[in-house]
Amino acid sequence: MLIADNIRTTLLRNAARVENALDELFASRSVKSDTLLKAMKYATLGGGKRLRATLVYGVGEFFGASEKALDAAACSVELVHAYSLVHDDLPAMDDDNLRRGRPTCHIQFDEATAILAGDALQTLAIETLISERFNPCDMETRATMVGTLICAIGDEGMIGGQAIDMEFTGLSVSLEDLSRMHALKTGALIEASVMLGGIIELQQGDRELEILSEYGRALGLAFQIADDILDHTSDSKTLGKDAKSDDRQNKSTYVSSMGLENARVEASRVCQEAIDLIRNLDGDTQFLENLAEFSINREY
Ligand code: IPE
Ligand code: IPE
Ligand code: MG
Ligand code: MG
Ligand code: MG
Repeated sequence: MLIADNIRTTLLRNAARVENALDELFASRSVKSDTLLKAMKYATLGGGKRLRATLVYGVGEFFGASEKALDAAACSVELVHAYSLVHDDLPAMDDDNLRRGRPTCHIQFDEATAILAGDALQTLAIETLISERFNPCDMETRATMVGTLICAIGDEGMIGGQAIDMEFTGLSVSLEDLSRMHALKTGALIEASVMLGGIIELQQGDRELEILSEYGRALGLAFQIADDILDHTSDSKTLGKDAKSDDRQNKSTYVSSMGLENARVEASRVCQEAIDLIRNLDGDTQFLENLAEFSINREY
């Protein structure tokens, strides 16, 4: 109970912090289309658990990274995440109408605007990391940060996972394929969030980076298994998004593949793996352990 309260307070504090940073970022843009900027802000601000930002902050603070660098990294992962949700909800993909308790971007605006807003959020994420205006790290570190993010979200990462997600719809696939899909579509960005927090202070080749990568991967997989479980067991009001969306579309999920109880067991097992991995760091890893637990023990 105490752990849960502690995590919730920190998530709220970090959510407010990244929200402020994102607000400032949007305020600094000179976008010629009011509609585009409105849609970008609509999709990004005022909602979400901000788990990815919290991973950046949690890991970054563990290694003593500067506040401004962490804000830039936290904004970048939340921008990519927001873009991925806008596109994921489109009629051509999951065709969902509700996101973060509000109409999805293409319902609130229109499909063309949602596609463009998603595109622009993705490029803004890169700009945030590479531009000295937003990110105070030296050029080499900024380049490493950008490399880490773009490798995680492209054809060999998140988008590759989303493509497999579409291809697997309606099929019965092996557990190995399913875990690969989850690792890509959700795990890759979560792993990148963890890595960005570490890269600022660590050097390439440091053993800590390998530990962070493995922890991020496990946490990301546990998080998506929990997402599959919540989609099946919860309701739209609690989730703030369309519940039973996976069932409606006949998606391949851990629940459809191994059943609810086995999916729960698997989520706990992978979560424990993340906890054991992060304990390999020297120092107090309690908060990062709690985040792994939160990734499966959450209501939405
Ligand atoms: C939902 O992510 C999409 C997945 C990758 C599972 P979150 O559950 O983190 O969504 P928000 O940011 O809290 O709305
Ligand atoms: C989304 O997975 C993954 C990405 C957006 C990259 P889901 O389709 O399961 O996410 P929700 O359930 O709509 O949030
Ligand atoms: Mg989807
Ligand atoms: Mg979806
Ligand atoms: Mg889902």
